[in-house]
Amino acid sequence: MEKCDANRHPIRNVRAFRSALLTWFAENRKDYPWRRTTDPWAVLVSEIMLQQTTVASVIANRRFDRFLDEFPDIETMATASEPKILKAWEGLGYYNRVRNLQKAARAVLEDFGGQFPPEAAELEKLPGIGRYTAGAVSSFAFGKAAPIVDGNIARVISRLLDERNAVDGTIGQKIIWQAAADLLEINSPRDFNSAIMELGQTVCAPKNPACLLCPVRDFCQCRDPESLPVKKPKKQFVKVDEHAFFHRLGDKVLLAMGRGSRRRGFWHLPLREPEACAHLEAGDLHRYVITHHRVTVHLYRADPGGLLKGEEFIPISELADLPIATPMRKILESELGQ
Ligand code: ADE
Repeated sequence: MEKCDANRHPIRNVRAFRSALLTWFAENRKDYPWRRTTDPWAVLVSEIMLQQTTVASVIANRRFDRFLDEFPDIETMATASEPKILKAWEGLGYYNRVRNLQKAARAVLEDFGGQFPPEAAELEKLPGIGRYTAGAVSSFAFGKAAPIVDGNIARVISRLLDERNAVDGTIGQKIIWQAAADLLEINSPRDFNSAIMELGQTVCAPKNPACLLCPVRDFCQCRDPESLPVKKPKKQFVKVDEHAFFHRLGDKVLLAMGRGSRRRGFWHLPLREPEACAHLEAGDLHRYVITHHRVTVHLYRADPGGLLKGEEFIPISELADLPIATPMRKILESELGQ
């Protein structure tokens, strides 16, 4: 066994570490569509999309290319209607992210003369752009030496350093971001950031990491990789019950336009308080999870009795073109036999 000397510590022998990682990446890099562009708008779209959907799903469903076909630049995005952007994001969830994408496009036009600022500190001033996304756009689009830390990179670094502070806690975050900055190869930040992320996505996986194949195993301090990264205890799920009505009249169905933070801009089945449903036969149950809510929908095939504000009968033929969040669309489709 080699002795644990200074050369085995990535922070002490950073040059050898960078070189090993970049050599591995040059031979193994994946050809993703967002790696073929340095357009900051396209890079931003990819990063926001990949925050909520796996790489495999974005690729398989051509979500990135399709979104950019529809919104090729910030001007198109800035002037699009809300139903149009929600529709384009349908199925990806977390719809405030696409609303923020539009706000960011507008802010670039209004506050930065139509040009994305290259520095991460400036990018972070845009709506919906946090530290990770700012660093990603700065390094991937502009080739700036900005560090990034996502879940994959946090795992790689916590294992390299055998870091036992929770990576999502204040101290752990500080240590991991500092290490990401120290390790970064400033002459090729684009490749370095992609490489360390891809190492986490492939070799340094959460379960069964392929340590024997790891290009930087000689630098790794970790003895029990599956025990890292340490994370703060999970937030408990909150149970929510919703009482929804499926009421069809001929070729129309009763829907409600969402208000409030969770459903704003989306059509959903009309909802009533549980007391208003007490006289009805127990409804079918549908379950879905959204953020930290576990929702049970009690579905009644009945007239809810009188329309509330925002409720109207919508032709069934128009449903495909309307923004309807996926869980509600699934219920609707199963009721309509589609
Ligand atoms: N996940 C998030 N951003 C990514 C990127 N730029 N490349 C690969 N996977 C990613």
